[in-house]
Amino acid sequence: MNAANNIKPVRKAVFPVAGLGTRFLPATKVMPKEMLTLVDRPLIQHAVEEAQKAGIEEFVFVISPGKEMLKDHFTPHKELNKALEARGKTQELQKLESFEIAEGKLHLAYQDEPLGLGHAIWCAREFIGDEPFAILLPDDVVLGDKPCLSQMIEAYNATGGNLVAVVDVPKEDTRKYGILDIASDDGKLVDIKGLVEKPEPQDAPSTLSVIGRYILQPEIFEKLESHEKGAGGEIQITDAMAKLIGAQPFHGLRFEGTRYDCGHHLGFIEANIAFGMQNSNIGPQVTEILAEYQNSAFPAKAGTL
Ligand code: UTP
Repeated sequence: MNAANNIKPVRKAVFPVAGLGTRFLPATKVMPKEMLTLVDRPLIQHAVEEAQKAGIEEFVFVISPGKEMLKDHFTPHKELNKALEARGKTQELQKLESFEIAEGKLHLAYQDEPLGLGHAIWCAREFIGDEPFAILLPDDVVLGDKPCLSQMIEAYNATGGNLVAVVDVPKEDTRKYGILDIASDDGKLVDIKGLVEKPEPQDAPSTLSVIGRYILQPEIFEKLESHEKGAGGEIQITDAMAKLIGAQPFHGLRFEGTRYDCGHHLGFIEANIAFGMQNSNIGPQVTEILAEYQNSAFPAKAGTL
């Protein structure tokens, strides 16, 4: 508790990873979408490391049966560690240890059916209890100097209540996202008076969209209790959040950094290019390769998406 303003700290984070990943089939037939590799590590690791840097202490993965490998990725692999040790591969060992989650700090909540993001979050309620918590969707990755969740926690420590990370989207894209109805906007922090899930451009109250980073109060679970279906016949977190507005502070933060939507092919490829160019080992070569492609005839088609 921040004694000066009664704001409870954010110690726990939920990672909803029980979706079907249909847009990436057949790649995701057996392997979870969240295990797809963005340059050098899976999407879920990018999200967990962002949370670790932001000071999160407890992690809840909402999975569907069969996706347990997502947890295995963050726990020690004894045989592999032994083999690396025997080969003197100290750096590789250190790399693996650097993102492990301590025993008892990573919990699995099961969502047996993918009924929607709101339902997935509701499935985590027993691990969250009565405290504020963060949500990170691993298919949204943010490239920037300061982790997006760290920026959010900094803002939350002043505002309290609920806070979502937001970006401006083209008007024709409002139908893909949760869109804000704005009460006031100082250019960085937005006071929210309403939220609409996937409105058609002509009905959208703004072009500011929520991305996959949230800090919410535990009262959200009461709003999710009714399992009301929304856009696309799914139980939407946006609808539950909209019900908290008015009862609790609700803000949007224009964070510093670039968001990549890795939930579809083009966004995922763009993220690989951007993260590849920034990578300290391969960045210059990636940039060179891109320049070569720009200057040469396009190679033969390798397949279709
Ligand atoms: P998405 O809608 O992007 O993921 O949900 P999806 O449903 O797996 O993908 P497509 O649309 O079929 O290609 C965003 C996040 O919410 C999780 C997903 O795993 C993803 O991380 N999610 C979504 C759940 O955990 N449960 C759900 O019922 C829906």
